Amino acid sequence: MAVKIPKIGLEDFQKEKDILLSLRHRNIVLCQGEVNLHSGQQGIVLEHMAQGTLKDFIEKNQPLSEEQKISLSLGIAKGLAFLHGEKIFHRDLSHNNVLIDDTGTAKITDFGKAKPLSNVLGTSGTIGTYLWMPPEAFS
Ligand SMILES: Nc1ncnc2c1ncn2[C@@H]1O[C@H](COP(=O)(O)OP(=O)(O)OP(=O)(O)O)[C@@H](O)[C@H]1O
Ligand SMILES: [Mg+2]
Repeated sequence: MAVKIPKIGLEDFQKEKDILLSLRHRNIVLCQGEVNLHSGQQGIVLEHMAQGTLKDFIEKNQPLSEEQKISLSLGIAKGLAFLHGEKIFHRDLSHNNVLIDDTGTAKITDFGKAKPLSNVLGTSGTIGTYLWMPPEAFS
């Protein structure tokens, strides 16, 4: 179990929590609920991802085998396809926001910038992590 304590405003945190709670897929980090901390803050309870971020995993295990590369890429693609089927746009996918569990399964996390399709349409400006943004995000 891991607890994410938000740095961002309460409203954004509620949105992140609601989105996470509505999603259940093998390649999306499982949200197990919320918790009230002694500090008065709320935390999101997540399944613990023992092998850390994709970035850490690649650094620790390089060179990755072909099987590992294919399995990680497929996992991320399946997670994203599921999100898009649910009409949720993550908007900040990067090697820091993909976590690896103890079995080596990749799961997408950090829905702090995510939005449902209805709220994305008409949004202006750019969002994401610079090196990971798609070309169409640049005007
Ligand atoms: N379920 C989890 N299990 C293990 N580690 C986690 C888990 N969730 C988050 N972490 C660790 O905490 C870091 C930050 O989490 P997350 O990406 O959800 O928050 P963030 O809002 O982006 O915060 P930051 O700006 O610090 O990256 C991750 O990169 C990872 O190292
Ligand atoms: Mg993050």
